[in-house]
Amino acid sequence: MKRLAILASGSGSNAEKIMAHFQHSEKAEIALVASNKAEAFVLERAKKFGVPTFTFTRKEMDAGTLLEKLQSENIDWVILAGFLLKIPVDLIRAFPDKMVNIHPALLPKYGGKGMYGNFVHEAVKAAGDTETGITIHLVNENYDEGRIVFQASTPLTSADTPESIADKVHALEHKHFPEIIDGLL
Ligand code: GAR
Repeated sequence: MKRLAILASGSGSNAEKIMAHFQHSEKAEIALVASNKAEAFVLERAKKFGVPTFTFTRKEMDAGTLLEKLQSENIDWVILAGFLLKIPVDLIRAFPDKMVNIHPALLPKYGGKGMYGNFVHEAVKAAGDTETGITIHLVNENYDEGRIVFQASTPLTSADTPESIADKVHALEHKHFPEIIDGLL
């Protein structure tokens, strides 16, 4: 049985889909949901599934607290589902090819510093793009540049707003992210 940890900073709609997907799996279990925000809704979602939670500050993460927790919980895979802090290099190195991120755009477009959540959808709208999508990739030391495992796209029209773009992207994420993680294990 593989032990997965989900790191998330916000609502956790992706985390919820992943927890639901693996709820009765014989292959893997979600052993921990960890967040840098004590008030993040993802923690409520975890409780609903009976998944243990862990919160930490950026300072604690940078000092190694999160890595220690993941190691003490014997975590095999780390899933970033809307985790918005830069991950320390030693944490990335502790999970080589075993850390997966979802990015709400078609990388290499709209990646890098400051490109997360609604900032991405606003940039896509401002550029007048006719499509956007999702990228699921392994995490290496250059954050948004790890090996791409999966991409899916969705068409956009000039009537789309950053909010409707976010809805379309979330729908793609919810549909594909759990399956792609399952396939990677
Ligand atoms: C998701 O759209 C995810 O792709 C994005 O944050 C959202 C979290 O939503 N991640 C990033 O922007 C990372 N660069 P959720 O909390 O409802 O799952």
